[in-house]
Amino acid sequence: MKLLIKGGQVIDPANDINEIRDVLIEDGLVKAVEAGLSISDGEILEAQGKLVCPGFIDMHVHLREPGFEYKEDIASGTRAAAAGGFTTVCCMPNTSPVIDNAAVASFVRERAQRAGVVNVHPIGAISKNQEGKELAEIAELVAAGCIAISDDGKSVEKSNIMRNALDYARMFDIPVLSHCEEPSLSRGGLMHEGFYSTIYGLKGIPAEAEEVMVARDILLARLTGARLHICHISTAGAVEMVRQAKAEGVLITCEATPHHLLLTDELLGSYNTDAKVNPPLRSQEHVDALIEGLNDGTIDCIATDHAPHHLESKDCEFELAANGISGLETAIPALMSLVAEGRISLTHMIELFTIGPAGILSLDRGTLSPGSVADLTIIDPEMVKSVDTKKFYSRGKNTPFKEREFKGWPHATIVAGRQVALKGTIMQGEMK
Ligand code: DOR
Ligand code: ZN
Repeated sequence: MKLLIKGGQVIDPANDINEIRDVLIEDGLVKAVEAGLSISDGEILEAQGKLVCPGFIDMHVHLREPGFEYKEDIASGTRAAAAGGFTTVCCMPNTSPVIDNAAVASFVRERAQRAGVVNVHPIGAISKNQEGKELAEIAELVAAGCIAISDDGKSVEKSNIMRNALDYARMFDIPVLSHCEEPSLSRGGLMHEGFYSTIYGLKGIPAEAEEVMVARDILLARLTGARLHICHISTAGAVEMVRQAKAEGVLITCEATPHHLLLTDELLGSYNTDAKVNPPLRSQEHVDALIEGLNDGTIDCIATDHAPHHLESKDCEFELAANGISGLETAIPALMSLVAEGRISLTHMIELFTIGPAGILSLDRGTLSPGSVADLTIIDPEMVKSVDTKKFYSRGKNTPFKEREFKGWPHATIVAGRQVALKGTIMQGEMK
């Protein structure tokens, strides 16, 4: 089975390619990336004016299955991923039951095999039931296919547990993905602590709640020699600490989310629960520091922290509303707007969605090298459209980008040589 993608602007940062070429796919693998290719049998996808990239990877999503299928499940979440231009997602373990043993990890992988339309890698828990008391069976989780461990949703409060987790992770050569939040500083907080929290009268979460934990985890990463990855970094101080730790040779990486890169705490003035997220949207100086961190290599990748919620969890008093933003179907247009503003270059943005996460997780993806699995994301840079949550494949309609107009949307998503989405619509043949 052959597929020829013709005439697109091929941007493959892993191979330093940025020019008009054709991509030939044969039996699910990239066969050639050259100009002037033709085929006598098979399918042709015209890509003139489109950006042809390695498949985008989102290393931080919540698929909610098992346990919270009313918010999302593997079928709906992977469709949202494909429609949003992602070919691989890694799902966090804060499900019910928690992914803290081989049985749950295997369940997720099997469901993804049967119902998923993109690649899914489960992330195992650090501690049993994510309670922070006792380490999960990390060897068992790795054997069952978990590519990292995390207690995302909250911090590992006890430093000795975090130390032991890092030690184990090092043995298996997997990263520990750390949600950095000192709970005694953040407890009861509803938004970023600063000028706007005072004006709006909402209890704040100081930047230091994140920074105290980033500092601790850097010390523990240095102590253990393990690979530490900071989830959803959101403050200037945290970025600076990661920058310095990298310079010292600590094995540290970090991710930033589209919402922390585009939005500020001023937005909370409308008490819009769709903008309530943890860590909270910060002030402009923090956003500027994140952009600087993206551009100087301190921040290694962009991840959505896709956190779908049911309407009832958001359609309530601000204080009671759940934290989280449904992010898979707006990430590419959101980042394309930063490219248009000149805040980040197009090629670097593509790096942050491809070789960035692939490197952190040692995935054999993120490149169009001949012989690699043909996962591709094709973007239409000219397409102008408003965010329409009614058309979301995700069950979570909770996004502060609702109705916002963006230019630059996913055009096609190809997984192992098969087209799974076109112009934001899942291909019928892929409905399982
Ligand atoms: O906003 C968030 N939502 N932050 C988290 O850390 C967890 C996530 C969720 O699972 O809903
Ligand atoms: Zn998360």
